[in-house]
Amino acid sequence: MCGIVGYIGPRNTLGILLNGLSTLEYRGYDSAGVSFIQDGRLELIKKKGYVKELREAVAQAGFTLDDRHTNRISAGIGHTRWATHGAPSDENSHPHMSMNGKLCVVHNGIIENYAELRRFLKKKGYVFASETDTEVAAQLIEYYYGLNDNKDINAAVRRALKDIVGSYALCVLCVDEPDRLICAKKDNPIVLGIGKGENFIASDVTAMIEYTKDVVFLEDNWILTMTKDSVEITDVYGDPVEYKVEAVVWDADSVQKGGYAHFMMKEMHEEPKIFEATVEPRIKDGDIYLEHFPVDEEYMKGIHNINIIACGTAFHAGCVGKYLIEKLCRIPVVCTVASEFIYSDPIIDEHTLTLVISQSGETLDTRNAMKKAKELGSGTLAIVNVIGSTIAREADNVLYTAAGPEISVASTKAYVAQLGCLYLIALKFAHVLGKLDKEKYEYYQNELLQIPDKLEQILRKQTDIQRFASTHFNVESTFFIGRGLDYFLSMETSLKLKEISYIHSEAYAGGELKHGTIALIEDGTLVVCPITQDDLVSKMESNIKEVATRGATVLAIVPERFRDIKFSCDVRFTIPDCDELMAPILGVLPCQIFAYYMAVYKGCDVDKPRNLAKSVTVE
Ligand code: AGP
Repeated sequence: MCGIVGYIGPRNTLGILLNGLSTLEYRGYDSAGVSFIQDGRLELIKKKGYVKELREAVAQAGFTLDDRHTNRISAGIGHTRWATHGAPSDENSHPHMSMNGKLCVVHNGIIENYAELRRFLKKKGYVFASETDTEVAAQLIEYYYGLNDNKDINAAVRRALKDIVGSYALCVLCVDEPDRLICAKKDNPIVLGIGKGENFIASDVTAMIEYTKDVVFLEDNWILTMTKDSVEITDVYGDPVEYKVEAVVWDADSVQKGGYAHFMMKEMHEEPKIFEATVEPRIKDGDIYLEHFPVDEEYMKGIHNINIIACGTAFHAGCVGKYLIEKLCRIPVVCTVASEFIYSDPIIDEHTLTLVISQSGETLDTRNAMKKAKELGSGTLAIVNVIGSTIAREADNVLYTAAGPEISVASTKAYVAQLGCLYLIALKFAHVLGKLDKEKYEYYQNELLQIPDKLEQILRKQTDIQRFASTHFNVESTFFIGRGLDYFLSMETSLKLKEISYIHSEAYAGGELKHGTIALIEDGTLVVCPITQDDLVSKMESNIKEVATRGATVLAIVPERFRDIKFSCDVRFTIPDCDELMAPILGVLPCQIFAYYMAVYKGCDVDKPRNLAKSVTVE
């Protein structure tokens, strides 16, 4: 969702801010803006639309983005806004300037008591230029700044925060203190990047890894004051806090397209590499190691049930995890969409382990669900991609997926990496519980280690899928049908198709079709059937026949070992053989490629689909 960048240092500040905002575009937004202090003047440029339009507006206003020019800007902040309070418009875009022009504010999150604060400020004579909750913060800070004899912007921010109820990553630029930036954080991520004679802030590290790898993930209720040479972090009372500088392992190339037309294509091509990076280092001498997560027989015997919470694609990975853990460990598992979990009355106590799955580590629904599980006494193990993210820090233990930055809104490689972690967890638990003998345990490890090569083989045949998409992208409706693990695979790939191509798409359990949905099948309906489980072949062939006789065009995705089986499909795509338990990891890739090309042929903005944000930090 919204993105923040801030910079103080000798480089061209506008160049840093606008490049940073471009990098954060993937988070999803509808307007953008910058504010900076040049020659002692507080400047503000903001626009509805994309960063490209903001760049043009900055150039038209006569400011240079060229690094070779001397930087006359003492400090700057920038923002991409994903509208919540007030429609996308120039006025509602951030930064927001306070009424007397003293300061500008950018904000991610929601100020819940903004209406009450607005009434208070109006009584004090403040006039508002936007409909946003953020403008209230700008006016309130200015109000307290005016009351403050020492004219200390840090003190004014801390005082205003006492009145603000809600969540925020807030960054403030004050014309009277042109060499300082103040940031505050509660329930929204903000990262400090420490350079030499320069400092950065951003919503995530991708916006700064080109310049520095030394970062501090700010904690809730911390206040950061930075100049180009100094960093001071306090709590809301102004007392210094201890903080840790961490080194980012991601490299700058990982946020570039690297010759691919879209990040999504690049990220699908990274799947072999990132699966290997997630799985291989955790397998040693015939055993699986889950870093600092203590898994011994005594611990496992104390776990009576497992609870999985996640949203969207991560939830679909969780469904596969449920299947695996129940099958291999014989422990009851419930997998719930995080936004529903918080309204449920789950059977959870200290004998429950909760697995929390999130690429971004910032999804608010998932965070809230994790909080509830903890309150009920459950231990938590998070499977997270973004290092240092909130869920990673708030969970009892974390297992990182080694997917690197995922920029495309449609999650592909992170899903495959999440599966990697879930297979490791299920196998380890089963072995520790004595449900999986050494021979079978090592057999499955070996199967996992062969996945990267097999993913490569699928990528080499991507033009077969492309060809199919090139003649079917005009369909109005697509159904994905599968049974068992293939049903979860269908759920995930149906989501992928709808989110990037806007084609209506549903996933159905093969056996459910005849209970109603088959009424929707007609001439020209497209049906995609992953069939990877040996004992489900004949059942799925019956499903294919049912839809084919009603006019559907059927694409089947099957392993090589089914080569002699006749299916009534129109086209079949073959994936390499593997143990059928591992098939979801291979089966998803051709379906992702299919969704990608359907969207490309339809002319959709693949990496930035309409209405979607990469990291969903509102409920
Ligand atoms: C995936 O393609 C989606 N964009 C979305 O469903 C996503 O998986 C979901 O919002 C969860 O995000 P998270 O993994 O960052 O928590």
